[in-house]
Amino acid sequence: EERLEQIAALPKTELHLHFEGAAPPGFIRGLAKEKHVDLSGIFNRDGSYAYRDFVHFLSVYEAATSVLKTPDDYARLTTAVLEECAKNGVIYAETFLSPDFCGGGDVPAWREYLHAIREAADAAERDMGITLRGVVTCIRHFGPDKAKRAALCAAETAGDWLCGFGMAGDENRGEQKDFAYSFDMAREAGLGLTSHACEWRGASEARNAIRDLGVSRIGHGVRAIADPATVEMIAEEGITLEVCPGSNVFLGVFPSLKDHPIERLRKAGVKVTVSTDDPPFFHTTMRKEYTDLAKTFGWDEADFLEINRNAMHAAFCDDATRDAIL
Ligand code: HPA
Ligand code: ZN
Repeated sequence: EERLEQIAALPKTELHLHFEGAAPPGFIRGLAKEKHVDLSGIFNRDGSYAYRDFVHFLSVYEAATSVLKTPDDYARLTTAVLEECAKNGVIYAETFLSPDFCGGGDVPAWREYLHAIREAADAAERDMGITLRGVVTCIRHFGPDKAKRAALCAAETAGDWLCGFGMAGDENRGEQKDFAYSFDMAREAGLGLTSHACEWRGASEARNAIRDLGVSRIGHGVRAIADPATVEMIAEEGITLEVCPGSNVFLGVFPSLKDHPIERLRKAGVKVTVSTDDPPFFHTTMRKEYTDLAKTFGWDEADFLEINRNAMHAAFCDDATRDAIL
């Protein structure tokens, strides 16, 4: 249909994209073959990633990531991921990068990975017109000590390109406040802050992330819908939600897109944005997210403009970059 084709073709911005989780399965399979690593256990017969549930997904994610061993591997990953983003009409993306996977939390090694990623990203910006920025991410189920090392890497490399600090991983382990030290270090380094919350646990997780970590954005945040007072607080404080509808439906957080709270949150005055999370793992793309939302909620071009404006206002990049996109 013509209306949906126009929606699919809109320029898009994306704030919530796990870098290794955006790796096309064929790219990871190719690296495994080159390095003689047997990863057959993490693929289905059709070549897609195989996992049972969210916790198993996290371990398959870490297995796939294990073949990304050098800065050059990450440079190649950068090109592969940005080609996919550009194909989907994405013009600005922020991606989660973990020192745990890039040098194991060692600052000099981290600098080498970051340099390789930036060079490839700068080339993609020239060739494909897509702007990428990095958000250093600690991993909740790796614990607070590893998070401190990630925060130190973040503080040492904070600047125009590296503009945020966040937390991903298993929300059911530990508490947001266990990571306050790391978020304080990142804030003092001038980084924007975000944390995964309310994807698996209830509304209190979002309140804790705001109170204990001082985040301006929340990764997901969608289960806050169960508590009207929390939704109101998120709206009043101007917190932006990085909503990943396709991811939520694929992982069973909500049974279908029509049951997804993105439209109810928006109507309650919450600033919502749209992202893919880990697109090949969840069998989604930005084009698919946009067309599914247009079909399910009747969103038109003006609605998507609002979504993109929300994203750029909440983006952690500098104002010159923001203004160039807006
Ligand atoms: N959620 C939480 N942690 C993650 C994800 C995700 O989608 N991908 C990689 N780490
Ligand atoms: Zn995520």
